[in-house]
Amino acid sequence: MLEKAMRKPFHLFTCHRRDEDDFTVIAHRGASAYYPENTFPSFEGAIAMGADMVELDVQLTSDAEVVVFHDENLSRCTNGRGRITDYTLMALKKLDAGGWFGRKFKNVKIPTLDEVLDICKNRIAVNVEIKTASVSRIISGGIEEKCLKIVERCRMKEHVVFSSFDPCALLHLKRLDKTAPVAVLYKKKIYGSKRLPDMMDALDAVAFNCSKSELNNEWMALAQSCGIPINVYTVNDIRSMRKLINMGVSGIFTNKPDVLKKVSAEIRKLKSEDKQL
Ligand code: G3P
Ligand code: MG
Repeated sequence: MLEKAMRKPFHLFTCHRRDEDDFTVIAHRGASAYYPENTFPSFEGAIAMGADMVELDVQLTSDAEVVVFHDENLSRCTNGRGRITDYTLMALKKLDAGGWFGRKFKNVKIPTLDEVLDICKNRIAVNVEIKTASVSRIISGGIEEKCLKIVERCRMKEHVVFSSFDPCALLHLKRLDKTAPVAVLYKKKIYGSKRLPDMMDALDAVAFNCSKSELNNEWMALAQSCGIPINVYTVNDIRSMRKLINMGVSGIFTNKPDVLKKVSAEIRKLKSEDKQL
């Protein structure tokens, strides 16, 4: 297993200086409780709220461009219909990806990965989640290679972590560039009851991401003894935030980064007061 010292600490992916706290506030699809998910306003909102990282989802268009969008189908978050993979980038750009959330966001567009990395550069780290529907058996020219090239072109490699529910995407990334930082995104159907360090080693991963309902005490204990950062999604209530931070998770994905920031600062303050006693 990779020794702790060899792993880049997860919090070093962030773009700004951190104090001694290494907890990571991850804005899930941006500050998506307040803005239409996976859009510029949502990412700008997360930056303004002081999140450490934004999480976004990527997929391929019919003309093989990498766009930031969560669902396979367009109907929930745009005024379009059908599957995103059946649309060219130009056709997608004609859709309204903000009006469903609120009138003032009408005509906000689906962004490309390029465009989002451009606004995040030097401001916030990014977790690029590659959606399973866009992962194929092709390594050369597939979504993974396209993402790597975009990240490289935007000079964001030091501040990007890739994840995917499909481990093939992570294996492809590693085949293309063994230094690509990847995080396991746990799915029971795929990993079953594999040991945490084995899942990490199999993908040479820097972090382990799982849902709050999947997190268990055995993982927490192993994570702490092996120095594996665990990031939990998607947590929007204060009680769960407090509980998870006190359990020792490294980061939380939330739609409300402003709330999580406050909660983590409160806990940090309490801990430092305790130390002084
Ligand atoms: O990457 C964490 C989380 O985003 C995974 O689930 O469906 O929100 O992309 P989903
Ligand atoms: Mg996601």
